[in-house]
Amino acid sequence: MIIKSAEYTASYVDVLKCPKTQMPEFAFIGRSNVGKSSLINYLCGRKALSKVSKTPGKTQTINYFDIDNHLHFVDLPGYGFAKRSIDQRHKWDNMIRNYLLKREQLMYVCQLVDARIEPQKADLEFIDWMGKNHIPFIILFTKADKPGNRDIVTNIQNFKNALLANWEELPIGIVTSAERNVGREEVLGFIDAATKDYYKKAAAGPVL
Ligand code: GTP
Ligand code: MG
Repeated sequence: MIIKSAEYTASYVDVLKCPKTQMPEFAFIGRSNVGKSSLINYLCGRKALSKVSKTPGKTQTINYFDIDNHLHFVDLPGYGFAKRSIDQRHKWDNMIRNYLLKREQLMYVCQLVDARIEPQKADLEFIDWMGKNHIPFIILFTKADKPGNRDIVTNIQNFKNALLANWEELPIGIVTSAERNVGREEVLGFIDAATKDYYKKAAAGPVL
């Protein structure tokens, strides 16, 4: 899949106000600073479509991007940001969990996991929560600037092993680096196939 146009649509805090269009959407979630906004920019081939920052907690709202008038990428604020107050965390929880549970257009969550660090409890817990709520997701390992690096390989394997403690089957996992151009074709290939499937089913009409 080649993205011809990627445009910022708008930002929302309330899932009920999100766009009414029926385009399928792919939401990017993960800990603050894991590289969600960078990955969206990388996939779209655009440097500054979504705002990137060295300081965690940059993305604060549900941000929509229109991809070729065919699908949406949704950039979400990260979780696990220690400097947030309890009140802010509640707000985050409400906003994100409401969005994930209620948004009918949501096709897949792209769960980002930092490949440079050991498995994190916050990620494993969030994945378990999605599993319990039947939210479809794939895992995108980020910041694998040198994907063959021994630490990266070990971290990814450890993460998969940790998942296998609760899951019988591993979800799809793709290794990426926005900085070093790793994984774009594979991620876009997955998104393309899921999108085609969505439109095929939509054309066939509702199952009676
Ligand atoms: P929040 O919006 O705060 O939740 O963060 P985010 O997940 O959107 O992360 P963002 O894309 O803003 O990137 C955070 C930091 O990680 C920035 O300093 C990026 O330059 C850096 N970063 C992102 N992707 C990569 C990558 O592939 N490799 C390396 N080395 N750094 C990266
Ligand atoms: Mg961000």
